[in-house]
Amino acid sequence: MMRTRPLKVALLGCGVVGTEVARIMTTHADDLAARIGAPLELAGVAVRRPGKVREGIDPALVTTDATALVKRGDIDVVVEVIGGIEPARTLITTAFEHGASVVSANKALLAEDGPTLYEAAERHGRDLYFEAAVAGAIPLIRPLRESLAGDHVNRVLGIVNGTTNFILDRMDIAGAGYSEALDEATALGYAEADPTADVEGFDAAAKASILAGIAFHTRVRLDAVHREGITEVTSADLASAKRMGCTVKLLAICERAADGRSVTARVHPAMIPLSHPLASVREAYNAVFVESEAAGRLMFYGPGAGGAPTASAVLGDLVAVCRNRLAGARGPGESAYTRLPVSPMGDVVTRYHINLDVADKPGVLAQVATVFAEHGVSIDTVRQKGKDGEASLVVVTHRASDAALTGTVEALRGLDTVRGVASIMRVEGE
Ligand code: NDP
Ligand code: HSE
Repeated sequence: MMRTRPLKVALLGCGVVGTEVARIMTTHADDLAARIGAPLELAGVAVRRPGKVREGIDPALVTTDATALVKRGDIDVVVEVIGGIEPARTLITTAFEHGASVVSANKALLAEDGPTLYEAAERHGRDLYFEAAVAGAIPLIRPLRESLAGDHVNRVLGIVNGTTNFILDRMDIAGAGYSEALDEATALGYAEADPTADVEGFDAAAKASILAGIAFHTRVRLDAVHREGITEVTSADLASAKRMGCTVKLLAICERAADGRSVTARVHPAMIPLSHPLASVREAYNAVFVESEAAGRLMFYGPGAGGAPTASAVLGDLVAVCRNRLAGARGPGESAYTRLPVSPMGDVVTRYHINLDVADKPGVLAQVATVFAEHGVSIDTVRQKGKDGEASLVVVTHRASDAALTGTVEALRGLDTVRGVASIMRVEGE
Protein backbone atom coordinates (compact mmCIF):
# COMPACT_ATOMS: atom_id res chain seq x y z
CA MET A 1 0.00 0.00 0.00
CA MET A 2 1.44 3.35 -1.05
CA ARG A 3 0.97 6.21 1.43
CA THR A 4 0.09 9.39 -0.42
CA ARG A 5 1.40 11.84 2.18
CA PRO A 6 5.09 12.31 1.37
CA LEU A 7 7.99 11.87 3.75
CA LYS A 8 9.78 15.20 4.01
CA VAL A 9 13.54 15.34 3.54
CA ALA A 10 15.77 18.27 4.48
CA LEU A 11 19.07 18.33 2.62
CA LEU A 12 21.87 20.07 4.52
CA GLY A 13 24.60 20.81 1.98
CA CYS A 14 24.36 20.75 -1.78
CA GLY A 15 27.94 20.33 -2.94
CA VAL A 16 29.61 17.33 -4.59
CA VAL A 17 27.49 14.78 -2.68
CA GLY A 18 24.33 16.81 -1.96
CA THR A 19 23.84 17.71 -5.63
CA GLU A 20 23.85 14.03 -6.56
CA VAL A 21 21.51 13.12 -3.70
CA ALA A 22 18.99 15.70 -4.93
CA ARG A 23 19.40 14.56 -8.54
CA ILE A 24 18.76 10.88 -7.74
CA MET A 25 15.81 11.78 -5.48
CA THR A 26 14.25 13.54 -8.47
CA THR A 27 15.15 11.18 -11.31
CA HIS A 28 14.25 8.01 -9.39
CA ALA A 29 11.35 9.48 -7.43
CA ASP A 30 8.85 6.80 -8.52
CA ASP A 31 11.16 3.88 -7.80
CA LEU A 32 12.12 5.32 -4.43
CA ALA A 33 8.45 5.85 -3.53
CA ALA A 34 7.61 2.26 -4.52
CA ARG A 35 10.51 0.89 -2.47
CA ILE A 36 9.70 2.99 0.59
CA GLY A 37 5.92 2.85 0.38
CA ALA A 38 5.56 6.64 0.32
CA PRO A 39 6.81 9.43 -1.92
CA LEU A 40 9.74 11.58 -0.85
CA GLU A 41 9.51 15.35 -0.85
CA LEU A 42 12.58 17.55 -0.84
CA ALA A 43 11.40 20.09 1.74
CA GLY A 44 14.45 22.36 1.89
CA VAL A 45 18.09 22.64 0.92
CA ALA A 46 20.50 24.44 3.23
CA VAL A 47 23.66 25.91 1.72
CA ARG A 48 26.23 28.61 2.43
CA ARG A 49 25.97 30.54 -0.86
CA PRO A 50 22.29 30.96 -1.79
CA GLY A 51 23.03 32.77 -5.06
CA LYS A 52 24.91 29.85 -6.62
CA VAL A 53 23.11 28.26 -9.58
CA ARG A 54 22.14 24.69 -8.67
CA GLU A 55 20.83 22.69 -11.58
CA GLY A 56 17.68 20.72 -10.79
CA ILE A 57 17.08 22.44 -7.43
CA ASP A 58 14.01 24.65 -7.03
CA PRO A 59 15.48 28.00 -5.84
CA ALA A 60 12.46 28.39 -3.54
CA LEU A 61 13.77 25.46 -1.47
CA VAL A 62 17.22 26.94 -0.94
CA THR A 63 18.00 28.54 2.41
CA THR A 64 21.02 29.63 4.39
CA ASP A 65 19.15 29.05 7.65
CA ALA A 66 19.86 25.36 8.22
CA THR A 67 18.85 25.67 11.88
CA ALA A 68 15.35 26.88 11.01
CA LEU A 69 15.04 24.05 8.48
CA VAL A 70 15.85 21.29 10.99
CA LYS A 71 13.60 22.93 13.60
CA ARG A 72 10.52 23.00 11.37
CA GLY A 73 9.03 19.99 13.11
CA ASP A 74 7.52 18.45 9.94
CA ILE A 75 10.83 17.06 8.62
CA ASP A 76 11.04 13.25 8.63
CA VAL A 77 14.67 12.82 7.61
CA VAL A 78 17.61 15.22 7.65
CA VAL A 79 20.41 14.36 5.22
CA GLU A 80 23.61 16.01 6.46
CA VAL A 81 26.22 16.42 3.72
CA ILE A 82 27.85 19.65 4.88
CA GLY A 83 30.84 17.99 6.52
CA GLY A 84 33.09 19.16 9.38
CA ILE A 85 32.29 19.37 13.09
CA GLU A 86 30.20 22.54 13.44
CA PRO A 87 27.52 23.44 12.53
CA ALA A 88 26.94 19.81 11.46
CA ARG A 89 26.92 18.43 15.03
CA THR A 90 24.44 20.99 16.38
CA LEU A 91 22.24 20.63 13.30
CA ILE A 92 22.11 16.84 13.70
CA THR A 93 21.32 16.91 17.42
CA THR A 94 18.71 19.64 16.80
CA ALA A 95 17.19 17.49 14.06
CA PHE A 96 16.77 14.61 16.53
CA GLU A 97 15.25 16.97 19.12
CA HIS A 98 12.68 18.02 16.53
CA GLY A 99 11.69 14.50 15.59
CA ALA A 100 13.72 13.79 12.45
CA SER A 101 15.98 10.82 11.74
CA VAL A 102 19.39 11.56 10.27
CA VAL A 103 21.49 10.24 7.39
CA SER A 104 25.03 11.60 7.35
CA ALA A 105 28.20 11.13 5.29
CA ASN A 106 30.28 12.95 7.89
CA LYS A 107 33.12 10.66 9.03
CA ALA A 108 35.03 13.54 10.63
CA LEU A 109 32.13 14.27 12.99
CA LEU A 110 31.27 10.61 13.66
CA ALA A 111 34.87 9.89 14.60
CA GLU A 112 35.25 13.06 16.66
CA ASP A 113 31.98 12.86 18.57
CA GLY A 114 29.99 9.79 17.51
CA PRO A 115 28.74 9.03 21.04
CA THR A 116 27.01 12.44 21.29
CA LEU A 117 25.16 11.73 18.04
CA TYR A 118 24.26 8.15 18.99
CA GLU A 119 23.02 9.30 22.41
CA ALA A 120 20.88 12.06 20.89
CA ALA A 121 19.37 9.57 18.40
CA GLU A 122 18.68 7.13 21.25
CA ARG A 123 17.17 9.79 23.51
CA HIS A 124 14.71 10.87 20.85
CA GLY A 125 14.05 7.38 19.44
CA ARG A 126 15.35 8.20 15.97
CA ASP A 127 17.71 6.61 13.44
CA LEU A 128 21.30 7.64 12.71
CA TYR A 129 22.60 6.05 9.50
CA PHE A 130 25.99 6.79 7.93
CA GLU A 131 26.89 4.24 5.26
CA ALA A 132 28.45 6.95 3.08
CA ALA A 133 30.87 7.99 5.82
CA VAL A 134 33.22 5.07 5.14
CA ALA A 135 34.37 3.86 1.71
CA GLY A 136 31.92 5.83 -0.46
CA ALA A 137 29.52 3.58 -2.34
CA ILE A 138 30.69 0.33 -0.78
CA PRO A 139 28.17 -1.29 1.55
CA LEU A 140 30.40 -1.78 4.59
CA ILE A 141 28.79 -0.17 7.63
CA ARG A 142 25.51 -2.09 7.22
CA PRO A 143 27.27 -5.47 6.73
CA LEU A 144 29.36 -4.82 9.85
CA ARG A 145 26.46 -3.51 11.95
CA GLU A 146 23.86 -6.01 10.76
CA SER A 147 25.03 -8.91 8.58
CA LEU A 148 28.01 -9.71 10.80
CA ALA A 149 26.23 -8.96 14.09
CA GLY A 150 26.33 -12.68 14.95
CA ASP A 151 30.00 -13.17 14.14
CA HIS A 152 33.23 -12.15 15.88
CA VAL A 153 35.34 -9.76 13.80
CA ASN A 154 39.07 -9.87 14.44
CA ARG A 155 40.51 -7.66 11.74
CA VAL A 156 39.50 -4.94 9.29
CA LEU A 157 42.15 -3.94 6.78
CA GLY A 158 42.01 -1.93 3.61
CA ILE A 159 42.14 1.17 1.48
CA VAL A 160 39.53 3.62 2.75
CA ASN A 161 40.60 6.90 1.20
CA GLY A 162 39.98 7.45 -2.51
CA THR A 163 42.04 10.62 -2.88
CA THR A 164 45.29 9.14 -1.58
CA ASN A 165 44.78 5.94 -3.55
CA PHE A 166 44.23 8.06 -6.65
CA ILE A 167 47.43 10.05 -5.99
CA LEU A 168 49.60 6.99 -5.29
CA ASP A 169 48.16 5.21 -8.32
CA ARG A 170 48.86 8.20 -10.61
CA MET A 171 52.40 8.55 -9.22
CA ASP A 172 53.09 4.83 -9.57
CA ILE A 173 51.46 3.94 -12.88
CA ALA A 174 51.46 7.22 -14.83
CA GLY A 175 54.58 8.74 -13.24
CA ALA A 176 52.56 11.84 -12.30
CA GLY A 177 53.81 14.34 -9.74
CA TYR A 178 52.20 14.50 -6.30
CA SER A 179 50.68 18.01 -6.67
CA GLU A 180 49.37 17.34 -10.17
CA ALA A 181 47.67 14.12 -8.97
CA LEU A 182 46.18 15.89 -5.92
CA ASP A 183 44.77 18.67 -8.14
CA GLU A 184 43.16 16.07 -10.37
CA ALA A 185 41.61 14.24 -7.39
CA THR A 186 40.23 17.55 -6.10
CA ALA A 187 38.76 18.47 -9.50
CA LEU A 188 37.04 15.07 -9.64
CA GLY A 189 35.32 15.77 -6.29
CA TYR A 190 37.20 13.07 -4.33
CA ALA A 191 39.11 15.27 -1.89
CA GLU A 192 37.77 16.78 1.32
CA ALA A 193 37.10 20.54 1.49
CA ASP A 194 40.60 20.75 3.00
CA PRO A 195 42.59 18.00 1.22
CA THR A 196 45.06 17.96 4.12
CA ALA A 197 42.47 15.66 5.71
CA ASP A 198 43.12 13.17 2.93
CA VAL A 199 46.86 13.39 2.36
CA GLU A 200 47.80 13.56 6.06
CA GLY A 201 45.64 10.52 6.83
CA PHE A 202 43.03 12.29 9.02
CA ASP A 203 40.14 11.12 6.82
CA ALA A 204 41.34 7.49 6.82
CA ALA A 205 41.97 7.68 10.59
CA ALA A 206 38.39 8.88 11.13
CA LYS A 207 37.16 5.93 9.07
CA ALA A 208 39.41 3.53 11.01
CA SER A 209 37.99 4.84 14.27
CA ILE A 210 34.42 4.29 13.02
CA LEU A 211 35.19 0.82 11.59
CA ALA A 212 37.06 -0.38 14.69
CA GLY A 213 34.24 0.83 16.93
CA ILE A 214 31.59 -1.06 14.98
CA ALA A 215 33.69 -4.17 14.29
CA PHE A 216 34.87 -4.66 17.88
CA HIS A 217 31.81 -3.21 19.70
CA THR A 218 33.96 -0.76 21.60
CA ARG A 219 34.65 2.96 21.40
CA VAL A 220 37.89 3.77 19.61
CA ARG A 221 38.67 7.44 19.99
CA LEU A 222 40.06 9.23 16.98
CA ASP A 223 43.18 10.28 18.90
CA ALA A 224 43.90 6.61 19.68
CA VAL A 225 44.28 5.84 15.97
CA HIS A 226 47.92 5.95 14.87
CA ARG A 227 48.08 8.19 11.79
CA GLU A 228 50.61 8.81 9.04
CA GLY A 229 49.74 10.29 5.65
CA ILE A 230 51.27 10.03 2.21
CA THR A 231 53.03 13.40 2.02
CA GLU A 232 56.42 11.79 2.60
CA VAL A 233 55.98 8.98 0.08
CA THR A 234 58.35 9.71 -2.79
CA SER A 235 58.67 8.36 -6.30
CA ALA A 236 61.89 6.71 -5.03
CA ASP A 237 59.78 4.76 -2.48
CA LEU A 238 57.43 3.67 -5.26
CA ALA A 239 60.38 2.61 -7.42
CA SER A 240 61.93 0.73 -4.51
CA ALA A 241 58.60 -1.02 -3.86
CA LYS A 242 58.42 -2.00 -7.53
CA ARG A 243 61.89 -3.58 -7.34
CA MET A 244 60.62 -5.73 -4.47
CA GLY A 245 57.51 -6.76 -6.46
CA CYS A 246 55.35 -4.45 -4.32
CA THR A 247 53.37 -1.23 -4.53
CA VAL A 248 52.57 1.42 -1.92
CA LYS A 249 49.05 1.98 -0.56
CA LEU A 250 47.67 4.02 2.33
CA LEU A 251 46.13 1.37 4.57
CA ALA A 252 43.79 1.46 7.54
CA ILE A 253 44.28 -1.54 9.80
CA CYS A 254 42.13 -2.33 12.84
CA GLU A 255 42.99 -5.45 14.81
CA ARG A 256 41.83 -7.27 17.88
CA ALA A 257 44.75 -8.65 19.93
CA ALA A 258 45.19 -12.43 19.88
CA ASP A 259 44.05 -12.63 23.54
CA GLY A 260 40.97 -10.53 22.67
CA ARG A 261 41.70 -8.04 25.46
CA SER A 262 42.73 -5.01 23.43
CA VAL A 263 42.60 -3.56 19.94
CA THR A 264 44.80 -1.43 17.70
CA ALA A 265 43.88 0.99 14.92
CA ARG A 266 46.38 2.55 12.56
CA VAL A 267 46.65 4.37 9.25
CA HIS A 268 49.92 4.57 7.34
CA PRO A 269 51.43 3.96 3.93
CA ALA A 270 52.61 0.40 3.46
CA MET A 271 54.24 -1.73 0.80
CA ILE A 272 52.08 -4.63 -0.33
CA PRO A 273 53.01 -7.37 -2.79
CA LEU A 274 51.68 -6.95 -6.32
CA SER A 275 50.05 -10.37 -5.94
CA HIS A 276 47.84 -9.08 -3.09
CA PRO A 277 44.28 -8.07 -4.15
CA LEU A 278 44.75 -4.59 -2.61
CA ALA A 279 47.63 -3.90 -5.03
CA SER A 280 45.21 -3.87 -7.96
CA VAL A 281 42.86 -1.32 -6.37
CA ARG A 282 43.27 1.60 -8.76
CA GLU A 283 42.27 5.28 -8.89
CA ALA A 284 39.74 6.35 -6.23
CA TYR A 285 38.51 2.82 -5.59
CA ASN A 286 38.53 1.44 -2.06
CA ALA A 287 38.74 -2.15 -0.85
CA VAL A 288 38.36 -3.50 2.65
CA PHE A 289 38.98 -6.99 4.04
CA VAL A 290 36.99 -8.04 7.07
CA GLU A 291 38.22 -11.14 8.86
CA SER A 292 35.84 -12.81 11.26
CA GLU A 293 35.77 -16.05 13.18
CA ALA A 294 32.91 -17.81 11.38
CA ALA A 295 32.66 -16.08 8.00
CA GLY A 296 36.42 -16.06 7.40
CA ARG A 297 37.78 -13.44 5.03
CA LEU A 298 35.35 -11.09 3.27
CA MET A 299 36.36 -8.47 0.71
CA PHE A 300 34.38 -5.30 -0.02
CA TYR A 301 35.37 -3.38 -3.13
CA GLY A 302 34.07 -0.39 -5.09
CA PRO A 303 34.19 3.36 -5.72
CA GLY A 304 35.36 5.03 -2.52
CA ALA A 305 34.67 8.67 -3.31
CA GLY A 306 32.87 11.01 -5.71
CA GLY A 307 29.42 12.56 -5.85
CA ALA A 308 27.29 9.84 -7.44
CA PRO A 309 28.88 6.83 -5.69
CA THR A 310 28.56 8.52 -2.30
CA ALA A 311 25.00 9.58 -3.07
CA SER A 312 24.18 5.92 -3.76
CA ALA A 313 25.12 5.07 -0.16
CA VAL A 314 23.19 8.10 1.16
CA LEU A 315 20.08 7.11 -0.80
CA GLY A 316 20.32 3.52 0.46
CA ASP A 317 20.29 4.88 4.01
CA LEU A 318 17.45 7.26 3.20
CA VAL A 319 15.28 4.38 1.95
CA ALA A 320 16.11 2.28 5.05
CA VAL A 321 15.39 5.13 7.47
CA CYS A 322 12.10 5.98 5.71
CA ARG A 323 11.01 2.33 5.80
CA ASN A 324 11.77 2.23 9.53
CA ARG A 325 9.78 5.39 10.03
CA LEU A 326 6.72 4.05 8.26
CA ALA A 327 6.98 0.79 10.19
CA GLY A 328 7.35 2.65 13.49
CA ALA A 329 10.66 0.83 13.90
CA ARG A 330 14.30 1.79 14.37
CA GLY A 331 17.53 0.51 12.92
CA PRO A 332 20.53 -0.43 15.06
CA GLY A 333 22.00 2.12 17.45
CA GLU A 334 25.49 2.16 18.90
CA SER A 335 26.82 -1.24 19.99
CA ALA A 336 29.76 -0.47 22.25
CA TYR A 337 29.14 -2.87 25.10
CA THR A 338 32.81 -3.86 25.43
CA ARG A 339 35.37 -1.44 26.77
CA LEU A 340 38.56 -2.65 25.12
CA PRO A 341 41.70 -0.55 25.56
CA VAL A 342 43.46 0.63 22.41
CA SER A 343 47.11 -0.49 22.52
CA PRO A 344 49.85 1.93 21.45
CA MET A 345 51.53 1.70 18.06
CA GLY A 346 54.67 0.33 19.71
CA ASP A 347 52.83 -2.95 20.34
CA VAL A 348 51.96 -3.45 16.66
CA VAL A 349 53.93 -6.22 14.99
CA THR A 350 54.68 -6.09 11.27
CA ARG A 351 57.53 -6.11 8.71
CA TYR A 352 59.60 -3.10 7.65
CA HIS A 353 61.43 -1.81 4.60
CA ILE A 354 64.25 0.56 5.63
CA ASN A 355 66.35 2.56 3.20
CA LEU A 356 69.68 3.78 4.66
CA ASP A 357 72.40 5.98 3.20
CA VAL A 358 75.69 4.57 4.50
CA ALA A 359 79.43 4.84 3.99
CA ASP A 360 80.61 2.24 1.47
CA LYS A 361 83.51 0.68 3.39
CA PRO A 362 84.40 -2.62 5.05
CA GLY A 363 82.46 -3.55 8.19
CA VAL A 364 79.49 -1.19 7.68
CA LEU A 365 77.06 -3.96 6.80
CA ALA A 366 78.13 -5.91 9.89
CA GLN A 367 77.70 -2.81 12.08
CA VAL A 368 74.20 -2.22 10.75
CA ALA A 369 73.28 -5.90 11.15
CA THR A 370 74.50 -5.82 14.76
CA VAL A 371 72.17 -2.91 15.59
CA PHE A 372 69.22 -4.85 14.20
CA ALA A 373 70.24 -7.95 16.19
CA GLU A 374 70.70 -5.95 19.42
CA HIS A 375 67.09 -4.76 19.16
CA GLY A 376 65.72 -8.21 18.40
CA VAL A 377 64.76 -7.29 14.82
CA SER A 378 65.51 -10.11 12.42
CA ILE A 379 66.62 -9.22 8.87
CA ASP A 380 64.95 -10.93 5.93
CA THR A 381 66.80 -9.38 2.96
CA VAL A 382 69.52 -6.76 2.37
CA ARG A 383 70.26 -5.02 -0.90
CA GLN A 384 73.21 -2.67 -1.33
CA LYS A 385 74.12 -0.34 -4.16
CA GLY A 386 77.36 1.65 -3.87
CA LYS A 387 78.58 4.78 -5.64
CA ASP A 388 81.57 7.09 -4.94
CA GLY A 389 82.25 5.84 -1.39
CA GLU A 390 78.58 6.03 -0.39
CA ALA A 391 76.01 3.25 -0.57
CA SER A 392 72.27 2.85 -0.40
CA LEU A 393 71.30 -0.05 1.84
CA VAL A 394 67.78 -1.47 1.72
CA VAL A 395 66.90 -3.75 4.61
CA VAL A 396 63.64 -5.71 4.81
CA THR A 397 62.93 -7.23 8.20
CA HIS A 398 60.93 -10.17 9.45
CA ARG A 399 58.04 -9.35 11.77
CA ALA A 400 58.99 -7.14 14.71
CA SER A 401 57.23 -4.75 17.05
CA ASP A 402 57.04 -1.08 16.11
CA ALA A 403 58.79 -0.26 19.40
CA ALA A 404 61.73 -2.55 18.49
CA LEU A 405 61.95 -1.02 15.03
CA THR A 406 61.87 2.52 16.44
CA GLY A 407 64.72 1.63 18.82
CA THR A 408 66.68 0.12 15.93
CA VAL A 409 66.29 3.21 13.78
CA GLU A 410 67.31 5.52 16.63
CA ALA A 411 70.47 3.46 17.17
CA LEU A 412 71.22 3.39 13.42
CA ARG A 413 70.98 7.18 13.30
CA GLY A 414 73.69 7.26 15.98
CA LEU A 415 76.22 5.35 13.87
CA ASP A 416 78.94 7.47 12.19
CA THR A 417 78.75 5.27 9.12
CA VAL A 418 75.01 5.84 8.67
CA ARG A 419 74.65 9.15 6.80
CA GLY A 420 70.87 9.13 6.98
CA VAL A 421 67.66 7.10 7.11
CA ALA A 422 66.10 7.84 3.72
CA SER A 423 62.78 6.10 4.38
CA ILE A 424 61.04 3.59 6.59
CA MET A 425 57.93 1.82 5.36
CA ARG A 426 55.90 -1.00 6.81
CA VAL A 427 55.32 -4.08 4.67
CA GLU A 428 51.84 -5.60 4.90
CA GLY A 429 49.74 -8.19 3.18
CA GLU A 430 51.90 -11.29 3.36
P1 NDP B 1 31.26 20.04 -0.57
O1 NDP B 1 32.27 20.97 0.03
O2 NDP B 1 31.25 19.80 -2.02
O3 NDP B 1 29.78 20.51 -0.15
C1 NDP B 1 29.49 21.03 1.12
C2 NDP B 1 28.12 21.67 1.05
O4 NDP B 1 27.77 22.15 2.36
C3 NDP B 1 28.02 22.87 0.11
O5 NDP B 1 26.80 22.84 -0.58
C4 NDP B 1 28.05 24.07 1.05
O6 NDP B 1 27.32 25.18 0.58
C5 NDP B 1 27.34 23.50 2.25
N1 NDP B 1 27.69 24.19 3.49
C6 NDP B 1 28.91 24.44 3.99
N2 NDP B 1 28.81 25.08 5.17
C7 NDP B 1 27.48 25.24 5.41
C8 NDP B 1 26.73 25.81 6.43
N3 NDP B 1 27.33 26.37 7.51
N4 NDP B 1 25.38 25.79 6.36
C9 NDP B 1 24.77 25.24 5.29
N5 NDP B 1 25.43 24.66 4.27
C10 NDP B 1 26.77 24.66 4.33
O7 NDP B 1 31.44 18.66 0.24
P2 NDP B 1 31.12 17.19 -0.25
O8 NDP B 1 29.79 17.15 -0.86
O9 NDP B 1 32.28 16.65 -0.99
O10 NDP B 1 31.11 16.41 1.14
C11 NDP B 1 30.01 16.49 2.01
C12 NDP B 1 30.17 15.44 3.12
O11 NDP B 1 30.24 14.16 2.53
C13 NDP B 1 31.44 15.59 3.95
O12 NDP B 1 31.16 15.16 5.26
C14 NDP B 1 32.39 14.60 3.29
O13 NDP B 1 33.39 14.14 4.17
C15 NDP B 1 31.42 13.49 2.94
N6 NDP B 1 31.85 12.60 1.89
C16 NDP B 1 32.29 13.12 0.71
C17 NDP B 1 32.68 12.28 -0.31
C18 NDP B 1 33.19 12.78 -1.61
O14 NDP B 1 33.67 11.96 -2.42
N7 NDP B 1 33.12 14.05 -1.89
C19 NDP B 1 32.63 10.82 -0.14
C20 NDP B 1 32.13 10.38 1.14
C21 NDP B 1 31.76 11.26 2.12
P3 NDP B 1 27.73 25.96 -0.77
O15 NDP B 1 27.36 25.03 -1.90
O16 NDP B 1 26.88 27.16 -0.75
O17 NDP B 1 29.20 26.20 -0.66
N1 HSE C 1 37.89 12.46 0.64
C1 HSE C 1 37.39 11.16 0.80
C2 HSE C 1 38.25 10.18 0.05
C3 HSE C 1 35.97 11.07 0.33
O1 HSE C 1 39.03 10.63 -0.80
O2 HSE C 1 38.15 8.98 0.29
C4 HSE C 1 35.32 9.73 0.59
O3 HSE C 1 35.14 9.52 1.96
